[in-house]
Amino acid sequence: MGEFTDLFRLDGRTAFVVGAGSGIGAASARGLADFGAHVVCADLAESHARATARAIEAAGGKADVVRFDVRQASDTQALLDRYGTPDVLVHTPAINVRKPLLSISDEEFDRVVELNLAGTFRLVRGVAAAMADRGSGSIIVFSSMRARVVEPGQGVYAATKAGVVQMLRALAAELAARGVRANAIAPGVVETPLTDQIRADAGWARAYADKNMLRRWARPEEMVGAVVYLASDASSYVTGSLLMADGGWTAADGRFDPPL
Ligand SMILES: NC(=O)c1ccc[n+]([C@@H]2O[C@H](COP(=O)([O-])OP(=O)(O)OC[C@H]3O[C@@H](n4cnc5c(N)ncnc54)[C@H](O)[C@@H]3O)[C@@H](O)[C@H]2O)c1
Repeated sequence: MGEFTDLFRLDGRTAFVVGAGSGIGAASARGLADFGAHVVCADLAESHARATARAIEAAGGKADVVRFDVRQASDTQALLDRYGTPDVLVHTPAINVRKPLLSISDEEFDRVVELNLAGTFRLVRGVAAAMADRGSGSIIVFSSMRARVVEPGQGVYAATKAGVVQMLRALAAELAARGVRANAIAPGVVETPLTDQIRADAGWARAYADKNMLRRWARPEEMVGAVVYLASDASSYVTGSLLMADGGWTAADGRFDPPL
């Protein structure tokens, strides 16, 4: 056993994974459990969260299931009352209405902001307060490469994704002295239900694959390494960061490959 062998282990720790019923949240929950965490799988779609918990248990891990609406502050309090203060919070729920800004209705704007930004705020405020009282914790929120770069039709979503990064940075600064770390992850394009609309259009799907350096979409499981890293002591000196997991999309402008 080397000095660093257990750096990523999460034995004896509890992780709340909100959005555990699908895509990146489901993969994150399974990954955290594989590293030893007791995972509370929370999702509006309770039956989907249950399927994730069953997969964890089938693999020998520990999991619970909760129906949870991130838009309700009372649900966060109920989660804390039931399971205590977690060591790790992973938060994924977000929606995207892909339309030009001039076509976005007030209702659509409010719906995206209410879940992506206000929902994140309410959940993080509740859990971070409990973590700060105890003096430890790691908060991981899913942003997006759309926090950095946009295209037509991404205006409101991108604003919320940039917003959560700034919110997490402020939280990291406010709570560092109380033992709480807060970081965001920015995926590129990941094969989940959130991007079904894009993959239903072969030209759109191919264009997205070609835009990143790896020239392909990610599987949700490819986000697990980033989550476990930020959840564990491996990232003990990392807070207020935005970890790009975008296949290199935002590192190159992609307009032209010179004939070299
Ligand atoms: N998939 C991608 O290509 C991609 C790219 C960049 C960023 N992201 C970000 O990653 C995160 C996860 O995306 P995903 O693709 O796994 O999404 P997803 O749609 O597959 O899963 C989202 C989950 O959140 C749950 N949910 C929705 N509303 C909820 C609510 N009010 N309360 C509790 N749970 C709720 C859904 O039931 C679902 O299980 C999002 O924040 C998204 O913006 C995804």
